[in-house]
Amino acid sequence: MKHQTLTILGSTGSIGTNTLDVVRAHSDKFSVKVLVAQKNVQKLIAQANEFNPELIVIADDSYYQELKNNLNNSKIEILAGDDAVIHAAQVKTDIVMSAITGANSLRPTMAAIVRGAKVAIANKEALVCAGPLIMAAVQKNKAILIPVDSEHSALFQLFNHHEKEFIDKVIITASGGPFRTFTRDQMQHVTPQQAIKHPNWSMGVKISVDSATLMNKGLELIEAAHLFDLNPNQLDVLVHPQSIVHGIVRFKDGSHILQFAQPDMRIPIAYSLAFPKRLTPPLDLKQPLSLLSDLTFEKPDYKRFPMLKTAIDAMKSGLNAPTLLNAANEIAVNAFIEGKISFLKMHDLIVNVLEYMPQRPLHLIEDVLEEDQKTRRTCLDLLKKHAA
Ligand SMILES: NC(=O)c1ccc[n+]([C@@H]2O[C@H](COP(=O)([O-])OP(=O)(O)OC[C@H]3O[C@@H](n4cnc5c(N)ncnc54)[C@H](OP(=O)(O)O)[C@@H]3O)[C@@H](O)[C@H]2O)c1
Repeated sequence: MKHQTLTILGSTGSIGTNTLDVVRAHSDKFSVKVLVAQKNVQKLIAQANEFNPELIVIADDSYYQELKNNLNNSKIEILAGDDAVIHAAQVKTDIVMSAITGANSLRPTMAAIVRGAKVAIANKEALVCAGPLIMAAVQKNKAILIPVDSEHSALFQLFNHHEKEFIDKVIITASGGPFRTFTRDQMQHVTPQQAIKHPNWSMGVKISVDSATLMNKGLELIEAAHLFDLNPNQLDVLVHPQSIVHGIVRFKDGSHILQFAQPDMRIPIAYSLAFPKRLTPPLDLKQPLSLLSDLTFEKPDYKRFPMLKTAIDAMKSGLNAPTLLNAANEIAVNAFIEGKISFLKMHDLIVNVLEYMPQRPLHLIEDVLEEDQKTRRTCLDLLKKHAA
């Protein structure tokens, strides 16, 4: 395998640090050229000292001086601010890991796509709010998009060997999150600390809350529809608490092919970096029999987890609905984490926003960004009414 240079957008987060874990284990194959974070200066400094990149960027420019002071004697270029994040994505490297949380990732991810990069895409919110525009840009600029989300990595691997016309249904699995067995009454008073305690995965705060509401699975359905050009009716979800099977493809002849692997993000990350080859990830790989025993699958309960149904409806509505859904969800999750609304009120807020904002098509990235900002403002106004 040829040596590859890497840009990591979101290097201090859960996906970022797992990516660096894979890079550390395969330093003969990869080197880090660009690291980007938002505000976690200490972690960024430690990463810079270990991986010796050419450029590091901190999005929040109030941390610039601290970063500069701590890396005074190195040759590493240091930049700060949102435009510097976009510049970081434009720097020529072989692979860009897109792992910034939320819609903030849209502009840098697009910048990497426009320069025709190979983009390992972990961030799902960009695809949710601007899927058709991103996929058109991938095609126009001959970029390569490799999914990192475990479910989409599974589908990517399954699709690679089969023609789409023979596919009937595509199923992604959901762990069900920490409240899988809770009644709505029990969910009434759950805390952010309980919500981010995922049973199988160790992830960032936002995606952990999304997993607890099952919004994450809704966002992933939208992501899958764009990545694989699927009709929403071809997509389905199964709750699978063990998180071993990640994706299932059902063919028109009745055959099903599934991908399974232990729940560790370093497996799909290593796949995305090495594609079309494969790498051994730096973890204790379990034997198939220990993974395959006692697997269970159940249908999602839309009554207890209405976020999933609302996301599916937004996917089917198309136009600006997924953009509104995503922005409203980001505000709702933040408000929940900050203790401003309860767990169940997050859904009420999102539904209110979707009802309030008019439906319209979004033709350009600028339209998406404007709609995203407008939705956030509307949401913050509505939030005052919802405050617990
Ligand atoms: N974690 C998982 O296992 C997993 C699995 C599948 C998909 N994903 C997706 O991958 C993305 C990242 O998830 P995560 O769990 O790794 O999140 P996370 O732990 O919260 O990390 C987010 C990273 O993005 C950086 N960041 C945030 N806002 C930024 C901005 N405006 N500009 C530059 N950098 C910014 C953060 O920097 P600071 O640390 O400095 O704040 C951090 O490095 C999400 O879209 C998520 O849905 C995650």
